[in-house]
Amino acid sequence: MPSPQRVAVVGAGPAGFYTSDFLLREGFEVDVFDALPTPFGLVRAGVAPDHPKIKRVTRAYERTARHPGFRFFGGVQLGTDVQRDELLERYHAVVYAIGTSTDNRLGIPGEDRRGSHPATDFVAWYNGHPEHADREFDLSARRAVVIGNGNVAIDVARMLVLDPDEVAPTDTADHAIESLARAQVQEVVVLGRRGPAQAAFTNPELLELGELKRADVIVDPAEVELDPFSAAWIASGGADQTHRRNVEILWEYAGRRPTGKSHRVSLRFLRSPLEILGDEHDAVAGLRIGVNRLEPDGRGGLRAVPTGVEETIECGLVLRSIGYRGVPLPGVPFDERRGLIRNVGGRVTEDDGAPARGEYAVGWIKRGPSGVIGTNKKDAHETVELLLADRDAGRLGTPAPEASDADAVAGWLAQRVPHLVGWDGWSTIDAHEQALGEPHSRPRVKLVRVPEMLEIAHGTATRG
Ligand SMILES: Cc1cc2nc3c(=O)[nH]c(=O)nc-3n(C[C@H](O)[C@H](O)[C@H](O)COP(=O)(O)OP(=O)(O)OC[C@H]3O[C@@H](n4cnc5c(N)ncnc54)[C@H](O)[C@@H]3O)c2cc1C
Ligand SMILES: NC(=O)c1ccc[n+]([C@@H]2O[C@H](COP(=O)([O-])OP(=O)(O)OC[C@H]3O[C@@H](n4cnc5c(N)ncnc54)[C@H](OP(=O)(O)O)[C@@H]3O)[C@@H](O)[C@H]2O)c1
Repeated sequence: MPSPQRVAVVGAGPAGFYTSDFLLREGFEVDVFDALPTPFGLVRAGVAPDHPKIKRVTRAYERTARHPGFRFFGGVQLGTDVQRDELLERYHAVVYAIGTSTDNRLGIPGEDRRGSHPATDFVAWYNGHPEHADREFDLSARRAVVIGNGNVAIDVARMLVLDPDEVAPTDTADHAIESLARAQVQEVVVLGRRGPAQAAFTNPELLELGELKRADVIVDPAEVELDPFSAAWIASGGADQTHRRNVEILWEYAGRRPTGKSHRVSLRFLRSPLEILGDEHDAVAGLRIGVNRLEPDGRGGLRAVPTGVEETIECGLVLRSIGYRGVPLPGVPFDERRGLIRNVGGRVTEDDGAPARGEYAVGWIKRGPSGVIGTNKKDAHETVELLLADRDAGRLGTPAPEASDADAVAGWLAQRVPHLVGWDGWSTIDAHEQALGEPHSRPRVKLVRVPEMLEIAHGTATRG
């Protein structure tokens, strides 16, 4: 029997795991690489800690990892520890599943003032991503503004107003639990540049804002009145159920009176940030915003157009939640405009449009930072279908036989990255974190520093 063909999947988030699962079922051997010693991508470092049920999806990934053809190489960053060509020399195919780890820029004056942060960083900080564990967020301001109308904006707004008793039993990183408990933020203003019918929230997340223990949700009825274009769209078959229901929920919120809770989340619409204002120490002191109206964009949608009316919101913290963006990998074709690996349906393409032999993309780095965890399953299926078609047509890579053997790859990696963490090492970290959490009825206490993770994974921790 010929030996199985071997694939490197780079990135152990949802897209990487769904891809691995499909490939293993097709008889491939799969090596999954991740820059971190811990797997699961944004399920560990993005999904809000007060939503533990969502994280149970990792059980399916654990089943995939038990397949005999699966190996995990944690702590191996493509572009730093290993290079694209080195993987192509060793595998029949390489699938990039690296997600989109950075933020989009607003491009307005004052964006980099002290106290103005991308939501990407804040999310990674409270979730204990090692690259953000040493950051500090000054939460002493009374009012924070979150820019953007997506689910990440809702997540960060909610995290800022949760009662410390609600945060404490979660797997929020310890440094963030402490900092959030001391936070002075009493009002979070969430700013949408378009109207209620265009918000990218999903219904359960928007409904949750209306049920917070210590925060009232505030909506100005005038700001959720629909303009004629939006009203026609909502009334027509064009609008989907999610957008229609969002409008209903927001109308219901607009009819509420504050119940006297200590905190509030104010949802504002048709407002674009124009400038982040500063104090004499260059710290955030406010936000200059422009009032918008909506007009057809010529592509079937509605765009925000400035009316010329401006307002100022006093605030001491700004979280910019306007979407994630991919980071290029050295040597891998990249579409700078979209911030994604250049690809057609998951087949990586060179700058001239020709397919790059044996290279594929999947998940957020393939299609952009949108969609829930399950969206990546369908997406992975599409990419794997193309890979299978290429296999059948003899268009996969042709690795050097002596270098591509599973043991040879393991030997090469062990030499290159002495501290790499296999699935057993991750399982040790996982058990350790859960054991730390158990006495406090927390799902886990996350390790947030790589050296500590390595000590636990390799059993070299000294007991203190
Ligand atoms: C804040 C936030 C909250 C979310 N909450 C939910 C939710 O509640 N429910 C839901 O259904 N969806 C949620 N989503 C969406 C969901 O997380 C994404 O759809 C999904 O994680 C995308 O999967 P991915 O595998 O493409 O990327 P990721 O999950 O980002 O995984 C990418 C992986 O690649 C690794 N990597 C990156 N660069 C390299 C490199 N150079 N070398 C090696 N490894 C690398 C990273 O360490 C990471 O592990 C949320 C998203 C965000 C941002
Ligand atoms: N609980 C969950 O299921 C959950 C939680 C978190 C994230 N997610 C998913 O993860 C994906 C990413 O979420 P996301 O919130 O980062 O992105 P998103 O859903 O794409 O929302 C981005 C928001 O930023 C706004 N925006 C973009 N550029 C702007 C600018 N220059 N000025 C002002 N506003 C601007 C967009 O407005 P326009 O529409 O006007 O462009 C939009 O409201 C989504 O699919 C989301 O559903 C799911």
